Amino acid sequence: MTDHTNGLPRTGAEALPGLFDAERSAHIVATSFAASPDPRLRAVLTSLVAHLHDFVKDVTLTSQEWEAAIRFLTATGKKCTDTRQEFVLLSDVLGVSMLVDALNNRAEGDLTESTVEGPFHVVVSPPRALGASIDETGKGEPCLVTGRVVDEDGLPVAGASVDVWQADADGYYDVQLPGEVPANNLRGLFTADAEGRFRFQTIVPRFYPIPDDGPVGGLLRATSRHPYRPAHIHVEVTAPGVRTLTTHLFMAGTPYLNSDAVFGVKASLIRDFVVLDDPELAAAVGIANPFRWVNFPIVVRRERKLND
Ligand code: BEZ
Ligand code: FE
Repeated sequence: MTDHTNGLPRTGAEALPGLFDAERSAHIVATSFAASPDPRLRAVLTSLVAHLHDFVKDVTLTSQEWEAAIRFLTATGKKCTDTRQEFVLLSDVLGVSMLVDALNNRAEGDLTESTVEGPFHVVVSPPRALGASIDETGKGEPCLVTGRVVDEDGLPVAGASVDVWQADADGYYDVQLPGEVPANNLRGLFTADAEGRFRFQTIVPRFYPIPDDGPVGGLLRATSRHPYRPAHIHVEVTAPGVRTLTTHLFMAGTPYLNSDAVFGVKASLIRDFVVLDDPELAAAVGIANPFRWVNFPIVVRRERKLND
């Protein structure tokens, strides 16, 4: 008879506690992380394995389903390029991006609420002068956006950087249509004035579908979910000594406010885009009349120093 013990004495499983065993599976794998020098990594992996194994047991995952999951994740990775981030999209449609955001940016007092960054903040926005337009195609309804960046005490955040990006009137970001629309269309980096004020011209945003020609789109279709996001403008505010705010300005009345494909809507971020028909004001602002106007005051958190 062949001896498979490599010369070791035959022994019962109880003498080899590292052997895999479905009952104790998560514990056995967690034990393998015990020597990890990074305690946070150890804690995160231990919890991940516990939940993952619980999930596999909960749904009694079949081998075919596991293979399908591996194929799905492989396809998700293959869909990624420098300007297409399918994993971010997956995290977004599963609500994980919003959950991470919620845990890390709790709503407090008057602070402007945050929301998902999304996968289209993939290029550096071009610096533009206050009041300039971010629209480089002239397609869409003209819109003036104004606002002021202040801290919790109402003090202006002078010189704050206000980075904005949005989809075009057909629902596409510039990076989705390279060569068809000018690079940097509907993106701009503005520097607030000494009073924290900013303003820029753009077009009225429109609801649009998230990219659904990849595995994530397949997931949405398989679960009878639509891919749409309500009309919005992305805004990211940064300034020295201030906690970076990544948020959206949502348009009141847009479809999909209550069923955003990525769960990004917060009621406090919805604003009216009012119609202004005022040729004199339009001329003063340098915008076509009539136009829409939306005001988006922003309150950010000053990072307190230890002794403050
Ligand atoms: C966006 O608003 O740009 C976006 C957010 C999440 C997924 C896809 C797009
Ligand atoms: Fe967007």
